[in-house]
Amino acid sequence: MLIRLDKYISDAEGISRQDTKKLLSKGVVMVDNAVVKKGDVKVNEKNVIVINGKKLEYKKFVYIMLNKPKGIVSATDDKNDVTVVDLVKNDYPKRNLFPAGRLDKTSTGFVLITDDGEFAHDILAPKKHVSKEYIVTLDKEINEEIIQSFNSGVTLADGTLLKSATLISTKDKYIVKVILRQGVYHQIKRMFGVFDIGVNELHRTKIGGLELDESLKAGNFKELSQEEVMKIYSDINI
Ligand code: URA
Repeated sequence: MLIRLDKYISDAEGISRQDTKKLLSKGVVMVDNAVVKKGDVKVNEKNVIVINGKKLEYKKFVYIMLNKPKGIVSATDDKNDVTVVDLVKNDYPKRNLFPAGRLDKTSTGFVLITDDGEFAHDILAPKKHVSKEYIVTLDKEINEEIIQSFNSGVTLADGTLLKSATLISTKDKYIVKVILRQGVYHQIKRMFGVFDIGVNELHRTKIGGLELDESLKAGNFKELSQEEVMKIYSDINI
């Protein structure tokens, strides 16, 4: 499909049409080795577009890994609170971003933000069982019986029977690893609630086969490569 050069650049770079126009008029945009100053020239993905000597990679969608801090809500907009999209949107002014999956306001760790609706639907679909891993700090110790219950499927206080989940102890008796294969509201807190155990901290470390980059400080984010996005899918059970 052929589209106008100015639209192509502004979509690919996430910059305004006005800024695109400035780039073009400076003569720093080349299409197939020739300087082009007009925005209405028609191009497609096969044209090699170079801006300031750097080849433009057209990205239909973006996938962002955010290390969510406490106090931020997993939403696009919110009247009262700062959202995960608020933390990244200045870098992506032209994208309709949303979080693909939620963490509670008090939880921390890996939140995936994208503008690819089909991808989000895929990784959240209950049938696909994309796993999520959490490091959870509890107010009491767990025991073998609780590990077994998680494995066979916990029944929540409201009668909901959950799928099998994995509960693994660590060297610290109050810190455990939990692996979920479904997403029910406040799931981990409610699961431990059944055993009268409170959750003090909840940090998501992995989605599918992709681990949170621990070099990302709370509130920091990075764009994922195609390989990293594929890792998310790598443990899909169909
Ligand atoms: N389970 C919870 O209770 N909270 C989260 O944020 C994620 C899973």
